[in-house]
Amino acid sequence: MNIAIIGYGKMGKEIEKIALERGHTISLKVTSQNADYAPADLQSSDVAIEFSIPEAAKQNIFKCFEANVPVAVGTTAWYADFEEVAAKCTTENQALLYASNFSLGVNLFWQMTDKLSALMENHKEYTASINEIHHTEKLDAPSGTAITTAEKIISNSSNLNDWFLSENGKTQELSLPISAERIPNVPGTHTVTYASDIDKIELTHEAKSRKGFALGSVLAAEFLHKKQGVFTMNDLLGI
Ligand SMILES: NC(=O)c1ccc[n+]([C@@H]2O[C@H](COP(=O)([O-])OP(=O)(O)OC[C@H]3O[C@@H](n4cnc5c(N)ncnc54)[C@H](OP(=O)(O)O)[C@@H]3O)[C@@H](O)[C@H]2O)c1
Repeated sequence: MNIAIIGYGKMGKEIEKIALERGHTISLKVTSQNADYAPADLQSSDVAIEFSIPEAAKQNIFKCFEANVPVAVGTTAWYADFEEVAAKCTTENQALLYASNFSLGVNLFWQMTDKLSALMENHKEYTASINEIHHTEKLDAPSGTAITTAEKIISNSSNLNDWFLSENGKTQELSLPISAERIPNVPGTHTVTYASDIDKIELTHEAKSRKGFALGSVLAAEFLHKKQGVFTMNDLLGI
């Protein structure tokens, strides 16, 4: 396939490596320098993979729709626009797969979190929290992955109805604390903790590199080719 890489930064470069290894060709690379590219520039692409910046994600997705090019979106923190984007995708018979985390391991971690939080609902002596650690260049906090993790815990809990970004161990009633740390060169670590007065249970996913995210996004692009609709990693992984 001919793949357009929209956002050729840390992730875009990793995606290029995996795409070439899997026999694809890169038809377009977009950075801040050529961010004013036109939908016509996508005409030679079969699919696009978008890992840019939150402020640009919607416009990039709409350019793909206009060019009839399916798009796999890894950019995080644009989800306030999700309903509008999904509606346009459906109305215009386009294809979109979005994931706050493309790694298979994290998608398994989410399945485990779902099961763990359902089990813990009967054990109110434990208090849930999430910690995420990323490299210092990450723009958003908490991470999209931490937010998705929080949504799974909240959906199984009768005494939590929201999450909040917790600093210095602060707590809020009925709200799940997410703490975010920024440490150089950390690709992404997420931990769910259930703590009681006498012990604690932890579930951690630690990415060793960006390769898992890149591979997942290329698999998503392959999955999207010639499809229409709005998809998630659950569709790709058959979960
Ligand atoms: N879903 C996942 O699995 C996953 C995994 C990792 C990261 N992410 C997310 O992916 C995004 C990118 O992460 P990253 O680490 O690759 O960031 P990065 O290294 O900062 O790269 C961002 C890229 O986007 C380019 N860019 C800036 N404005 C643009 C525009 N208007 N249109 C297109 N491209 C534009 C930048 O251009 P310049 O090079 O000129 O600055 C750069 O090449 C973030 O939102 C991050 O949270 C998601």
